[in-house]
Amino acid sequence: MKEKVLNMLKENKKGFISGQKLSEILGVSRTAVWKVINHLRDEGYDIESVSRKGYRLKVSPDILTQGELNRLLNTNIIGNKIIHFDSIDSTNTYAKELASRQEKAGTVIIAEEQTAGKGRLGRNWTSPKGKGIWMSLILKPDIDPTDAAKITQIGAAAVCEAIRDMGIEAYVKWPNDIILNNKKVCGILTEMSGELNTINYIVMGIGINANIDSTEFPDDIRKIATSLKEYHREEIDRKHLVASILNRFEDLYKELIDENSIKRSIKICKDSSILLGKQVRIISRHKEELGKAIDITENGELIIEKENGEVEKVISGEISVRGINGYV
Ligand code: BTN
Repeated sequence: MKEKVLNMLKENKKGFISGQKLSEILGVSRTAVWKVINHLRDEGYDIESVSRKGYRLKVSPDILTQGELNRLLNTNIIGNKIIHFDSIDSTNTYAKELASRQEKAGTVIIAEEQTAGKGRLGRNWTSPKGKGIWMSLILKPDIDPTDAAKITQIGAAAVCEAIRDMGIEAYVKWPNDIILNNKKVCGILTEMSGELNTINYIVMGIGINANIDSTEFPDDIRKIATSLKEYHREEIDRKHLVASILNRFEDLYKELIDENSIKRSIKICKDSSILLGKQVRIISRHKEELGKAIDITENGELIIEKENGEVEKVISGEISVRGINGYV
């Protein structure tokens, strides 16, 4: 009912809508309407009420709830259900719990703040309140588990395009990161549960430093991390960015599900790649090697030409790639 009241208030932004009318349309008492209005106010909605006129929505809060995102989404599955937290340990951890308890594919978990945000390789992910986009998508694709890494490439393509669409020159650092000004603005953590031949679920966590000031990053990552705000020099609209990412993600994900291809995502990742043509350091568990990143295959593997002339395919998740001069 909260969603319905909110929708009606949003549709009537210029005028008032009476409590009587709301209660008639929704088939509930005026007291019930009043309670919902108070819930919305608790969430930060500035709702004016004037006797004999009714209610008018003055300002919506900057929160990433279903009520705020619905009208910006044009997806069929992704974001059909959005579970929003003011604060949570990690959206990925919660999404995995839900996914293992039969939560539907397409559900998105979003938090304003994470108290134990997880990065790759067991690192922490700084996730201050209201300053970023901290979200996890639950997916249950009927694909081979060895193809799971493709989901990350689709995610990276969707995020990169959505950021570029804001006029910001973002790059993909294969396979998981989005880069601005040679610093990391977004990381993707894809986790999977499955058997040898089947995927039970995939949780793709996306962390985007949206409106974080550089002073808010911990000392050790300040040199290598940036935010959209720092680059853009103004606060960015998190709601539009989330919706744009989810809309693009579903479109690109459909290609994988319907045609078993990620060609379009790979084209985006290649066109905006920060690595291709550059010397890179390949850090694997046991060794470090230098080489040149020369291509990304249609399946999302990075092709490296090593110093001895050998050409090698690198599957995402196997190694990290570092630029020779610093982070990228
Ligand atoms: C990386 O190390 O680059 C991946 C960072 C992924 C962070 C996101 S924020 C939302 C989701 N929940 C988490 O705990 N981590 C991911």
